[in-house]
Amino acid sequence: MSESQTWDAVDAYFTGHLSPDDEALQAALRDSEAAGLPPVSVTPAQGKLLHLLARVQGARTVLEIGTLGGYSTIWLARALPSDGRLISLEYSARHAEVATRNIARAGLDRIVEVRVGPALESLPQLADENPPPFDLVFVDADKANNAHYVAWALKLTSAGSLIVIDNVVRGGRVADGDSGEPDVRGSRAAIELIGAHPRLDGTAIQTVGAKGYDGFALARVLA
Ligand code: SAH
Ligand code: DHB
Ligand code: MG
Repeated sequence: MSESQTWDAVDAYFTGHLSPDDEALQAALRDSEAAGLPPVSVTPAQGKLLHLLARVQGARTVLEIGTLGGYSTIWLARALPSDGRLISLEYSARHAEVATRNIARAGLDRIVEVRVGPALESLPQLADENPPPFDLVFVDADKANNAHYVAWALKLTSAGSLIVIDNVVRGGRVADGDSGEPDVRGSRAAIELIGAHPRLDGTAIQTVGAKGYDGFALARVLA
């Protein structure tokens, strides 16, 4: 077995016991693929991690940046109480349309709102509405803007909130300080902001699995 076949087998074993797909999750992936969306949703094991983090937070409100077909959205929204609220920001109207159908089929349309547009335009509009602080923010959109998203997340959260950023490792390229890749530069800027910011306490964890080698950053918002 190659290394990546081993990662797949282990992910399949864990997922079978700990985060099995149900009809709504399977249908969300199937319809996303049929609509030609890129196959970059979080894995079931990662979706379950997001779900558990939201539960541990006792989250009532979640902000997601980067909806795609709503697969991670469903895992997160299922952690919320029936009067909870998840706002997910998505650049592509086509992705948002697929996601909206997937979310409705999962019975989560009363909790979830997908807002279409570049997140850096949606975020100031959202801030103008003075929403209650978000208990968890999941950053998973254009990685080049990751530090901007962390800065916005800080404005939209309060002490005890959790910020999670996907894809901060990118096959290890995050360690290359000379990289000209916008995604790598954006994720490095986010890591360095978390490290330097007095209101953030964080870490980053490398992962392998069905999506290869990547990782998450996590940051807790302080006072
Ligand atoms: N969170 C999803 C995957 C998101 S993929 C899941 O795990 O299921 C990244 C998404 O971010 C894509 O749908 C892409 O269209 C969106 N995106 C890219 N640039 C964006 C921007 N500037 N603002 C908002 N969304 C953006
Ligand atoms: C990719 C992976 C992701 O998790 C994502 O959010 C965007 C892109 C990728 O592998 O290209
Ligand atoms: Mg991602």
